[in-house]
Amino acid sequence: MGICYGQQIMAHALGGTVRKGDKGEYGLAALELEESSDPLFSGLAGAQQVWMNHRDAVAALPAGFRVTGRTATCAIAAIAAPERRFYGVQFHPEVVHTTRGVDYLSNFVFRVCGCVKDWDARHRAPAIEQEIRDCVGGHNVFFFVSGGVDSSVAFALCTRALGAERVRGVYVDTGLMREGETEFVASLPGVTVERAEEQFLNALAGVTDPERKRHIIGEEFVRVQERIVESRHLLDESWILGQGTIYPDTIESGGAKHAAVIKTHHNRVAGIQKLIECGRIVEPLKSLYKDEVRAVGRELNLPSELLDRHPFPGPGLAIRCLCSEFDAPLRATDDGFVIPVNSVGVLGDARSYAPVLAIDSFNLERATELTNRSTGMNRVVAAVKTRSPLRELTVSACSLSAERVATLRRADAIVRRISHESGYDREVWQFPVVLIPLGTPDARESVVLRPVHSVDGMTAQAVAMSSELLEEICARLLEMPEICGIFYDLTNKPPGTIEWE
Ligand code: XMP
Repeated sequence: MGICYGQQIMAHALGGTVRKGDKGEYGLAALELEESSDPLFSGLAGAQQVWMNHRDAVAALPAGFRVTGRTATCAIAAIAAPERRFYGVQFHPEVVHTTRGVDYLSNFVFRVCGCVKDWDARHRAPAIEQEIRDCVGGHNVFFFVSGGVDSSVAFALCTRALGAERVRGVYVDTGLMREGETEFVASLPGVTVERAEEQFLNALAGVTDPERKRHIIGEEFVRVQERIVESRHLLDESWILGQGTIYPDTIESGGAKHAAVIKTHHNRVAGIQKLIECGRIVEPLKSLYKDEVRAVGRELNLPSELLDRHPFPGPGLAIRCLCSEFDAPLRATDDGFVIPVNSVGVLGDARSYAPVLAIDSFNLERATELTNRSTGMNRVVAAVKTRSPLRELTVSACSLSAERVATLRRADAIVRRISHESGYDREVWQFPVVLIPLGTPDARESVVLRPVHSVDGMTAQAVAMSSELLEEICARLLEMPEICGIFYDLTNKPPGTIEWE
């Protein structure tokens, strides 16, 4: 079964042709699937929502194939040669926005391949605890905990399996965390805090390039961890490393993504690399998906405040606090105003930085149409409220400073409080709050709200909120003297990523 490029490669390799399309097809699309007796498409005929991420497409089929599905943009969106058991789909059945995607995968696994279901994630905790004891033997375990779900559940499992005195957690306070975060993590039993705020902020001073920011944060993490490993003698024979690696990490680390840089940054500390090479590591969650990790956490009676929290990136507020090398004005176009700050997008497998388009209407369909149509921009935001007209705003040269991080931390805390009190945080998968250096000499910053629906972070959909809630958020944020405007990200992933850097 070939998916996306997989369908194209299959067609190409078997004698068909693949061509660049006249336009791209990114995000939601309507698929019309033919009635068919093929096991892959069984029970799925008719119109349905799918998720697309391509421009190239199959233009001519190899011999023996027929088209089973099409969209308005893609005439060959599903293909089959059932006698040879070859199937292809241009859309992505593996993401949640393809509403019947799991049925395709399930048909493939059970009806085409003949597999049998024999795995159940429930009641896994006792078995995992036994695996931990078998793996750890007589050693003690240390973790670098982040306050996220994965490392916390892994840490709790080890504590249950081995007893609290044999498990230690260290949390690095980078100074880039949200309000109250360090205090929260420090309150978990067995966790100590290593303070390194100054070290991170000093290393980031004057840096504006997003990839360099990420790189520096990765490097500083390595330095702090080396220091911790050394001072606490964690490389002694008595210790092994615990990690909250989950199954999707191993998938994403295999690609070109940041997961390789950040999630596995422990592995770059030389001493830790050695521990891993000689097998002194325990990863109790490595065969589980996120929802299964949460289920295990509930089995352990961990608080929902911990289990149901939104994901928060390792580099923290730094990648939500955008910087600029230059002072620059906005540029008016037929569609809106181009904001000259570089934000990241992902098309196909490529990560790219490009400016942002601000439009004056809150219109998700129009945003999708604009990002599909134009090149040189991978994100569209609605200008919700600004103290001055857009044409009077400018981007000002700045890097990351303790003051700017503090402004973002306050803005983030305001949005989080309101979204928690209204219950909106339970409706969305993640809700980044981003600071961009856009404003006037009196109020130099603007805030971008980025709530998204997602299941696994690999794709995401921009999501609206009620006008009352939005008004309340704007009113509270505009009480901050530094804030000049509020924007709302209308971009799906792809082509935008969830985070802005
Ligand atoms: P993107 O921005 O790639 O994010 O759409 C997908 C998910 O990954 C999180 N993310 C990170 N998590 N370190 C992390 O631990 C990182 O460097 C990082 N970058 C993005 C992001 O918050 C979202 O949940």
